[in-house]
Amino acid sequence: MPTCPAPVRRLDPAAAAELTSAAAKLLARHGSATSPDLLADLPATCARLSAPLRHLLRPVDTADGLFVLRGLDVDDTELGPTPGHWSTVADAGARWDVALLLVSTLMGTPIAWDGQQDGRFVHNIVPSPGHESEQTGASSSVLLTPHTEDAFHPGRAHLLLLCCMRNHDGIATTAASVRLTGLDPADLDRLKRPVAPILPDDAYEQAQQFGGRPAPVPTLFDGPEGLTMRYDPAYTPLEETDPLWREAYERLGRELARVSVAVSLEPGDILVVDNDTVVHGRVPFRARYDGTDRWLKRASVRVEGRRTRPLAEHDEHGYGQAALTAWAA
Ligand SMILES: [Fe+2]
Repeated sequence: MPTCPAPVRRLDPAAAAELTSAAAKLLARHGSATSPDLLADLPATCARLSAPLRHLLRPVDTADGLFVLRGLDVDDTELGPTPGHWSTVADAGARWDVALLLVSTLMGTPIAWDGQQDGRFVHNIVPSPGHESEQTGASSSVLLTPHTEDAFHPGRAHLLLLCCMRNHDGIATTAASVRLTGLDPADLDRLKRPVAPILPDDAYEQAQQFGGRPAPVPTLFDGPEGLTMRYDPAYTPLEETDPLWREAYERLGRELARVSVAVSLEPGDILVVDNDTVVHGRVPFRARYDGTDRWLKRASVRVEGRRTRPLAEHDEHGYGQAALTAWAA
C-alpha cells in the first residue's frame, strides 16, 4: 500500500465500530439520511459519543490544513453499483452519509445549498456522462483545477469532508495549503486587494442567472492564525484584471502546484480539508460508466466564530444563494 502524503488519523477498530453503529442506529430510527428529524438529532447523538472518539474527530489542527481519517470499512459488495448521476443515488450508501454527518457535526455545523443536489447535506460525487470536461465534481477527463469550495459565496464551508466509497483506479484528489507557499511581500500585498470577482460555478445554475453585479474579492487574507485564501481560477475573470495583479495570481497558482499533494483515497477514508487554507482538485481520469466508478460523498461544514475571512464578506449578495444549516441555530 503506498504511503499517504497527507497526515493520517487512524480510527482503531473500537472507534470505527462506535461511529458506524451510531450511524446505523440513527438511520434505523429516522429511515432516511435526508430526514430533517435525523439532521436535528445529530448534535444529541454526537454528545453521547465517547471522549476518545470525539478527540479523534477534532477539526484540522496542523499547517498542512488537512488530514485523512482512516479505519472505516466500506463493503464494496454491499454498497451496490456507483450511480451514473447524483440525482439517482437515493439512499445508496446512506449509512456512510450519516457517518459523515456525525463526523461533520463533531467539527461544526453541516450546511447545504438549495441550488445544489436538491439541497442534500451530503453530496454524491460521481462521474456523469455528458459532463466529462466541466469544472464540477461530475467531470472526469479534465484536471479539476485546484479551488476553494464554493468560493463565490460568503457562506461557504470552513471545512470540506470527502468520504471515499469506491476508487478502484486510485484516482488522486489534490490538495495545496497556502501556508506552505512562498510569495514575496509585493505579491502578497497585491493579492490581498479585492481586484476580481469569483463567479458561481457550473453546479449552481440559479446563481449563474443572478442579476446583481459581481463584486471583486481579495484572494488572500491575514487571519489571526495566519494567511487564508479564497481561490477559484476557473471562475475568476482574469482577462479583465491588470497585468501586474494577474502575474501575482499566476505565481500563486504555481506555488500551489509546487506544494500540492496527491491523495489517492481508499474506501472508508475521509479526507478533511480546511477550506480557508487549502485548495483541492482532482487529476483527470477515464470514467468507466459500468457501476464501478470512483464515488465520493461530500459534506460541507461551518465553524462559527472563526475569524479567517474579511468582515466585508458580510455585505456580499452571494448571487442569491443561501446556505441551509442542518438544524435551527
Ligand atoms: Fe470542490
